[in-house]
Amino acid sequence: MTTNAWWASALSESVNSEKPLAVAFGGEELVLFRNAEGQAFALEDRCPHRRVPLSLGIVVKSGLQCGYHGWTFDGASGSCTQIPNLHATEKVPQRYGARAFPVAEANGFVHVWLGEGDPCGELPSADYCPKGREYTGSTIVNMTHDQYLAAMLDGPECLLDFQSVRMTDFFLGDPRPENGRLVLDRGAVWTTQILPSNFVIDYPLIVRTAVPLTGGGIRVDLLSEEEVQLSTLFIASGANRRGTTSLCWRGFMHNNRIAKAPLRWRAARAVNRLPFTVRSQIDGAAIAALLVAPSRDLAALRDQVLIPVRAAV
Ligand code: FES
Repeated sequence: MTTNAWWASALSESVNSEKPLAVAFGGEELVLFRNAEGQAFALEDRCPHRRVPLSLGIVVKSGLQCGYHGWTFDGASGSCTQIPNLHATEKVPQRYGARAFPVAEANGFVHVWLGEGDPCGELPSADYCPKGREYTGSTIVNMTHDQYLAAMLDGPECLLDFQSVRMTDFFLGDPRPENGRLVLDRGAVWTTQILPSNFVIDYPLIVRTAVPLTGGGIRVDLLSEEEVQLSTLFIASGANRRGTTSLCWRGFMHNNRIAKAPLRWRAARAVNRLPFTVRSQIDGAAIAALLVAPSRDLAALRDQVLIPVRAAV
């Protein structure tokens, strides 16, 4: 599947003018790089000459140079600007161009427009505004992208952890569409807290997962029961090859204090210990055991907005 959408595809700091970066997001294989002025570009990671990955090449002043025969491609247009060994009377044929994708950089992410027509709409990371120290990472997980999004709603505890927090499977209300995402609140407790045997308790924490209807920008917030924000995490996700999913993320702790937080959590915060973990290794048995619940709503909503590849080409 592809969509007419912006996809957060890489952390800004992982794209540079020294070495091209190969990423696979939203079913597209891309190579990202910067010019000397710091502008980021995205090309299809395939040389139009002999289909070698352009990410094996080098960044040069006029663009990205393929590592095989040295053709050079302009980052913005993808057009071939230079072919070694052409005679002085020969011109670079116009048809030799790499596919170029529009790029927008914001909030610590390089976003790529994957779709038809002119880019439009908000960037997926638009509501990610870090305050204070950030924690970042990237990985590839052994699940399809659709399954990853579904599991983020049905059982986020299989995919990530907040330090000293145990997520429960108790939903605090129904899933609700908000700003292009399906949002669900679930109760959570401190790991120092012993759960009573009855089902109705007051949950001191809320884990709010917001899963996109288009693109791959997932937002997860940890809040107190009074909805004081504690941690925010933005995970860029997208289909990689062979049923796997690319992830890269940034997150931070809010500077809000809550009186009931356990000593362990406050101490970890004081020394800037990692406040959350996005898992690279996912327990297949735990995923298989998840009940399909809110993700049904997500699948129905996504079916209304996604465009099959064959219809988009
Ligand atoms: S394969 Fe890229 S220049 Fe020949």
